[in-house]
Amino acid sequence: MKKGKVDALLGIVFGDEGKGKVVDYFTPKYDVVARFAGGPNAGHTIIFEGKKFVLRSIPSGIFDEGKLNIIGNGCVIAPDLFMLEAKELEAAGYDLKSRLHISKRAHLILPTHRALDRAYEAAKGKNKVGTTGKGIGPTYSEKAARTGLRVGDILENFPQKYAALKARHEQILHDLDYAYDIAEEEKLWLEGVDYMRSFPLTDTDLELNQALCEGKNVLAEGAQGTLLDIDHGTYPFVSSSNTTAGGVCTGLGVAPSTIGEVFGIFKAYSTRVGSGPFPVELFDETGDKIREIGHEFGAVTGRNRRCGWVDLVALRHTIMINGVTQLIMMKSDVLDTFPTIKACIAYEKDGERITSMPYDTEGWQAVYTELPGWQTDLTGMKSESEFPQAFKDYIAFIEKEAGCPITILSVGPDREQTIVR
Ligand code: IMP
Repeated sequence: MKKGKVDALLGIVFGDEGKGKVVDYFTPKYDVVARFAGGPNAGHTIIFEGKKFVLRSIPSGIFDEGKLNIIGNGCVIAPDLFMLEAKELEAAGYDLKSRLHISKRAHLILPTHRALDRAYEAAKGKNKVGTTGKGIGPTYSEKAARTGLRVGDILENFPQKYAALKARHEQILHDLDYAYDIAEEEKLWLEGVDYMRSFPLTDTDLELNQALCEGKNVLAEGAQGTLLDIDHGTYPFVSSSNTTAGGVCTGLGVAPSTIGEVFGIFKAYSTRVGSGPFPVELFDETGDKIREIGHEFGAVTGRNRRCGWVDLVALRHTIMINGVTQLIMMKSDVLDTFPTIKACIAYEKDGERITSMPYDTEGWQAVYTELPGWQTDLTGMKSESEFPQAFKDYIAFIEKEAGCPITILSVGPDREQTIVR
């Protein structure tokens, strides 16, 4: 029998590329949907049968009966937030326990990890990362330090293991002189641990490889974006996991040879949440206009997203790192009313011009090419033949500069407003 493949669907900028909308288009084609990195720092907004859900830890295939959803070993999971998320879906009529398997190797986010996240950020002052406050960094640090607790730990001697790790965290928080109160949070968290025990906690690596041997296809659903990757992002202003194609293999336990297509999602413009260098950032009314039309406010934190023009220096880099085979351009319609549109083609600093991503993008200025805007409402268009010439030119320009075809275009928030080329 022909073996199945793992296709990856990855945000290739700073996250928030609109993965939630396209997974809805993608999931029917796959037997298994798996999350391989990150945790409740993600917020995939999905509208299903007219109802809006924000998925944080749970894969987007959850709405489909008969599809297996996996939270892989590369993920971190907060039992309390997982419980709230899962119960909302159960209340809406989705039977989760028959469709969701959680890796015993995924790491647990403790309430004290979240307190540590806040404490470390406070200690950094103006150099803070601007994290989501969900305890992501401290949990992955603990994993690397080999002192963390995994999902499998809740099945045996959990109270003792939990008390020991919590005591260690409390000592650190005390040493940092950080005031915190997790009493309420902890109650819900422990309830969440009990609730998680009612789910299949499994060896998801084995299950995935068996599924592939049976010819089933897997969608690896990315979280965050390549420029937030711990190795390939704008360190230290990054998240703490491998959000890139390599993370699919380590975060699920599948071999590189199983990877099929790598879909790279980006928006027709750029956004970033939190601190860190962002050469294309606009501080003027154009940036405000993009934010307003694009509703660029965080799904998890509600923070304003920083906005700018598309960055082709960054895109070329992230396409290379991930081996992107197809690009998906989201939110093209947000640029409908702009008379001219800019695209960053190089960076400049102290008279030096570069076209590939440097080690540190701090201090580099974006060099732009100007293209005419299409000034046409794209939202009602159903096929490429209806596109105005200026939009076709914008697409062709990005494809040429990025060296990768754009095969799917989104021209509005609804499922129907997706054009496949
Ligand atoms: P953390 O993942 O909470 O540690 O946050 C680290 C950085 O990644 C911060 O700048 C966050 O704003 C950013 N970040 C984390 N998750 C997301 C996401 O899902 N979308 C966009 N930015 C994110």
